[in-house]
Amino acid sequence: MHNDIPSLPLNNGNQIPQLGLGVFQVDDATDTKNAVKWALKAGYRHIDTAAYYGNEQWVGEAIRESGLKREDVFVTSKLWNSDRGYDQTKAAFQATLDKLGFDYLDMYLIHWPAPGYAESWRAMEDLYKAGKIKNIGVSNFQQSQLETLMKTATVKPVVDQIETHPYFQQNDLHAYLETQGILHEAWSPLGGGKNNALTDPIITELAAAHDVSAAQIILRWHVQREEIVIPKSVHEARIAQNRDIFAFGLDEDEMHQIADLDAGKRVGPNPDDEAWLKQSQSYSGRK
Ligand code: A2P
Repeated sequence: MHNDIPSLPLNNGNQIPQLGLGVFQVDDATDTKNAVKWALKAGYRHIDTAAYYGNEQWVGEAIRESGLKREDVFVTSKLWNSDRGYDQTKAAFQATLDKLGFDYLDMYLIHWPAPGYAESWRAMEDLYKAGKIKNIGVSNFQQSQLETLMKTATVKPVVDQIETHPYFQQNDLHAYLETQGILHEAWSPLGGGKNNALTDPIITELAAAHDVSAAQIILRWHVQREEIVIPKSVHEARIAQNRDIFAFGLDEDEMHQIADLDAGKRVGPNPDDEAWLKQSQSYSGRK
């Protein structure tokens, strides 16, 4: 088995590297730049940031300083919840591009289904058609919210980036996304360090059997479910380890053992929580 990072086809004919580095909660210039540089050195070609994370500027700097060409790295950012409306969405996108120091973005996502997302999507469609964004998608959308969006959309989202880990597997939404040709992208694939998936006895037993780490078992499980994964780490050894998940495989029985761990336990907000969505619009994502 080879160890290359595969790319998955998107519904618009483009491709996305199946593994990327996530930089949520990395809010220091040195940590962000180191993490991105270590990832690129280890072979990652996909970085996932957001306006809300406040680190776009350092992501852009690290990519430039890596010596790689802009077109060699797939970069995602996200529109924060307080940025709604056609003009405001375009302005927020331009602020993201300016912070990154780019003249186009590989993928732009609506971060949460906070009210007003249909109008934001219309602006993103125009930026997509103008070539400023290569791929547009959503994050944290439930099936009902995607159905609402698609009533007025003229471009289908390419991905839905949603919380997914062994204790919160999102099987119903996963099946729906598959019927729509929308790729499932997993945030907090390791459970965000807030639950004990990494020390779960089933996971640690499988790790011992394959002579890999618990994190590698979990990431491999995601990859075999045809998900895109964006694990976060600020440690060089872990970043390298998380990349090394393409030279072994889990068999059907092992996949079932992990499937049985689903407990419906979120670590993040519930996208159906309208009070939280409204409240999240009261602070700006543009730091
Ligand atoms: P750190 O940044 O200190 O390495 P997720 O991507 O699911 O949100 O998980 C991120 C959490 O898991 C972070 O706390 C990160 O910590 C930790 N983490 C990332 N990779 C590994 C790994 N290979 N082994 C153990 N913990 C990891």
